Amino acid sequence: MTEKELQTLLEDMTLQEKIDQMFQVVGMFYIKDNTGIESGPAQELGVTPEDFDMAGSILGITGAQRLMDVQKRYMKKQPHHIPMLFMADIIHGFRTIFPMPLAQGAMFEPELSEKCASVAAKEAAVSGLHVTFAPMCDLVRDARWGRVMESTGEDPYLNSRYAAAMVRGFQGDDMKAPGKVCSCVKHFAGYGAAEAGRDYNTVELSEHTLREYYLKAYQEGISAGAGMVMTSFNTLNGIPASVNRRLMRDILRGEMGFDGVLISDYGALRESVVHGCSADDREAAEKGIRAGVDIDMMTGVYSANLKSLVEEGKVDEKLIDESVMRILTLKNRLGLFENPYKDADPEQEKEVILCGEHRQLAREAAQKSFVLLENDGILPLDLKKKTAFIGPYVESRELISSWAVTGKTEDCVTIREAVEELPDMENVVFCADATDLDKAREAAREADTVVLAIGESYRQSGEAASRGMLDVPAEQMELLRAVSAVNGNVVVVLFNGRPLDLREVKERAKAVLEVWFPGTEGGHAILDVLTGKVSPSGKLPMSFPYCVGQVPVYYNHFSTGRPQQKGADAGYVSRYLDIPNEPLYPFGYGLTYTAFDISPVALDKKEMKTGEKLTARVSVKNTGKTAGTETVQMYIQDVSASVARPVRELRGYQKVVLEPGEEKEAAFEIDEAMLAFLRDDGTVGSESGRFRVWIGSSSETENEAEFTGIFED
Ligand code: BGC
Repeated sequence: MTEKELQTLLEDMTLQEKIDQMFQVVGMFYIKDNTGIESGPAQELGVTPEDFDMAGSILGITGAQRLMDVQKRYMKKQPHHIPMLFMADIIHGFRTIFPMPLAQGAMFEPELSEKCASVAAKEAAVSGLHVTFAPMCDLVRDARWGRVMESTGEDPYLNSRYAAAMVRGFQGDDMKAPGKVCSCVKHFAGYGAAEAGRDYNTVELSEHTLREYYLKAYQEGISAGAGMVMTSFNTLNGIPASVNRRLMRDILRGEMGFDGVLISDYGALRESVVHGCSADDREAAEKGIRAGVDIDMMTGVYSANLKSLVEEGKVDEKLIDESVMRILTLKNRLGLFENPYKDADPEQEKEVILCGEHRQLAREAAQKSFVLLENDGILPLDLKKKTAFIGPYVESRELISSWAVTGKTEDCVTIREAVEELPDMENVVFCADATDLDKAREAAREADTVVLAIGESYRQSGEAASRGMLDVPAEQMELLRAVSAVNGNVVVVLFNGRPLDLREVKERAKAVLEVWFPGTEGGHAILDVLTGKVSPSGKLPMSFPYCVGQVPVYYNHFSTGRPQQKGADAGYVSRYLDIPNEPLYPFGYGLTYTAFDISPVALDKKEMKTGEKLTARVSVKNTGKTAGTETVQMYIQDVSASVARPVRELRGYQKVVLEPGEEKEAAFEIDEAMLAFLRDDGTVGSESGRFRVWIGSSSETENEAEFTGIFED
């Protein structure tokens, strides 16, 4: 349709019809026996069964045939035969499940995430979906928050690259194209900064911190063309984000240039009443529409109130027209007016979903997402030695995270199955029962090496799954203690949705391989890496705290006026009496099966003027006996500026693949834009003065050089 045709359509719609477009209901309530409507939930939402029936979009149902039937039925009764939108949370895969987003952050390879998102889109599209509620672009610094697993980590630069890559993967250049879906950037804004890491909790962020660190990744997702944005549940500086007019109209639309569809998070409009910012549903609806929220996900406050608000002159119908025009435009961008079923295809569905190629990509992504935290030479495994695979994750299929709602555990390859595919496994035994300590001890005693697969349950992270303790579950720590007491050669394979306190694990294990929730091909990928078929190459996208008392702990913090100096006597400095300031494992950290030498940083000049570039170089040499990949990271600090800058910030990285003995150069170009920041007067720019540059293998590298920036004001 042309814009003019859309406008004509809009003008022909009744107010009621328009408001229906702004209502989203959950599919499982909507569909009864695949044919009718359940009226119970409608009553609960305070809307009529007709409102429920005519909602312009549905959340969370899939299946090509089913969605085609629903679409057909809906369009028949919709007065203008407008198609409905089918949306769902396709976060890290549709049926082929890739590693959870935090694990994808560890790949330091957004290009690979783009491929994963594109496969997810393909599977979702043939199953009839039009929109995915991803990527989540919330910056995370607090491991207690259960949703850190849905983020790509604590670094705005890395998150931004992932945000853009994922949007491109889902949408491509044209969301109408076969195999593409609309991407929805979420949760706007600041949701990741929930006080004390408790989900849905208050968010207080200074204007500077919000803009300089938290808004960056959302912006990149939006600039990459995301067709939708979702509001967040939290209050931001006292105002619930979902009814925050300044945030949504001035910042999101005005400054950040978003012109797509804004949807509230699930029930969030009504929650503004509970927050204490709307007197009742009616006021929530009024504030929501004033803020420019186009779709009310699952509360009915729009459906029950917008009509009378307009009729009584409290809300200008123009606001509703604007929202509906945005919704119609999205439907049009997806090509639904011409083809309301888009890619839904029951036959294709059987072929495309979970095909060999998709599984192969899931395996590659999982391999690259694992982070080797410790290894004193025990890995790669020598399976000629007697090896006992012990622990609940040896046979578990629960490898896909709590946000893989369309995934199925039955598709997952377990560790045991992957071992059993190997040629020489006569020396291998399995003991998956975490509760039978005697059996585990016996298996461990008779083995040369123990692979202990333990960790959090997938239910311990995700939405509403914050934790106050960051330990590995007690029963499994008991298992580790029992096993390590009788066998010194323990390799821990760790499953988790967040950074954990690994002090004791580190002490008791000879190697620790972080595998997160690795997805459908988890078992294969784990064996590939344990056996050295593939060398580990992941780097932590989030600091692992020494203990929970440090949280939030992140590498790009500020310097206090009294920083603790390494090796200096303690005094009145910024420190804890009982624990170190540094995390146990820092951002960017990760080992592999070989070792690398990184030469001192060489700069091509010592001064950089306005408009100029500077190159920082290192040479990376593989000094070990196996091929390997090093992710070389460049950090920069503006030593003194009108607004204090973090002690260092990631500004580039390169993956260098090296054969044994091989040496390659990694060169990073630094330009003025990389040094720019938000000043107190609201302008963005760089300031003259000293800059430090580090290039190394983690955020703790001390491989440093310095230059002077001479910039015009
Ligand atoms: C979550 C969103 C999700 C939505 C729809 C909410 O509870 O916060 O991330 O997209 O549900 O499932």
